[in-house]
Amino acid sequence: MDAVQAPIIPTIGELIRQNPGTISLGQGVVHYGPPPAAIEAVSRALSQKSTHEYNSSAGLLLLRERIAAKLAAENRIDVNRGSRLMVTAGANMAFHHAIQAITNPGDEIILNLPFYFNHEMAIRMLNCVPVTVRTDDAYQPRIDALRAAITSRTRAIVTVTPNNPSGAVYSEASLSAVNALCRERGIYHLADEPYEYFTYGAARHFSPGSLEGAGAHTISMWSLSKAFGFAGWRVGYMAYPEHLEVAMTKIQDTVLICPPIASQVAAAAAMEAGRAYCEPHVRELGEVRDLVVNELGKLAPRLTLPTADGAFYCFVKVDTDLEPMGIVERLVREHRVAVLPGTTFGMVDECYFRIAYGALQKATVAEGIGRFVRGLRDILG
Ligand SMILES: Cc1ncc(COP(=O)(O)O)c(C=O)c1O
Repeated sequence: MDAVQAPIIPTIGELIRQNPGTISLGQGVVHYGPPPAAIEAVSRALSQKSTHEYNSSAGLLLLRERIAAKLAAENRIDVNRGSRLMVTAGANMAFHHAIQAITNPGDEIILNLPFYFNHEMAIRMLNCVPVTVRTDDAYQPRIDALRAAITSRTRAIVTVTPNNPSGAVYSEASLSAVNALCRERGIYHLADEPYEYFTYGAARHFSPGSLEGAGAHTISMWSLSKAFGFAGWRVGYMAYPEHLEVAMTKIQDTVLICPPIASQVAAAAAMEAGRAYCEPHVRELGEVRDLVVNELGKLAPRLTLPTADGAFYCFVKVDTDLEPMGIVERLVREHRVAVLPGTTFGMVDECYFRIAYGALQKATVAEGIGRFVRGLRDILG
């Protein structure tokens, strides 16, 4: 555990508590809650005995049926053709399960850089080695560099799209290239897709698990946390190759036994409400994103921001020799706005920050981003 970085969110949370009135552009959460139908379904379920008992380790049948229908209709993934579905307590758990299922200690997992910090932490925690490969200046994967990073110990390449922390949306062409590379080299493609609905403008999400022949080497993961305002309910799911069934079942049985029943009942109702529930929120977030991008533009050329047309993040590069965590602390103490330092996402050579704009109403984000721009101007001098 000494080799695992400490989670950043509690650290920033403490800083915010010490400085009341701080606007947090830190944590990656949405500002809305679950569909009302999910709450009603849970209320009804509370009086049923089965809600309080263990159930299938893979997840409730009704929920898995709804997930399978959604995957077929929206992601073009047919889980009846050589894949298995498992419900987990969030996508983080799905990722942890996946790494545990496919690795031996010392194996390598390739992460596109910047990475999602919990991925890197899970890999180290399971005694494996995260191998990072820089994305290009637009935060898009570099296929030749990924190819060059593969060794005899590599077990998988991870993609996150729409991306946390960069907001980049990977194209179908580059995801197809990553997936083909994994197939060719006999390794897995781990596709983490919790922000699938969060795309803006012309950007579209693509699931590599839908590619012909991908089912045998692709583990795809999703989450209800963002799309359905479900973060506290802890529900995610994954589709994985059937040859991993025994390993996945052993892990799930040992770690979770079964996903919490009340949460799954809520999830089944949320899945029935479906994407339509999330869409108005995404449209609203698109307006917030435009506002954020416009404001950040005022700091050019000292601040650069490549296209971020997905998720609800911007990952900005700032031209300075100052240390990013020092700037984060000053932004909170002196300007009452919190963002995350790029070092948390593996970008240690230069000064980067992640700005999350999903958790607040538009007017609060506007105020927060204004403080960030003014604060950075002041700090950079
Ligand atoms: C890329 C990515 N994967 C997984 C998660 C965690 O999802 P869950 O709440 O379902 O565990 C997050 C949350 O921020 C994320 O950004």
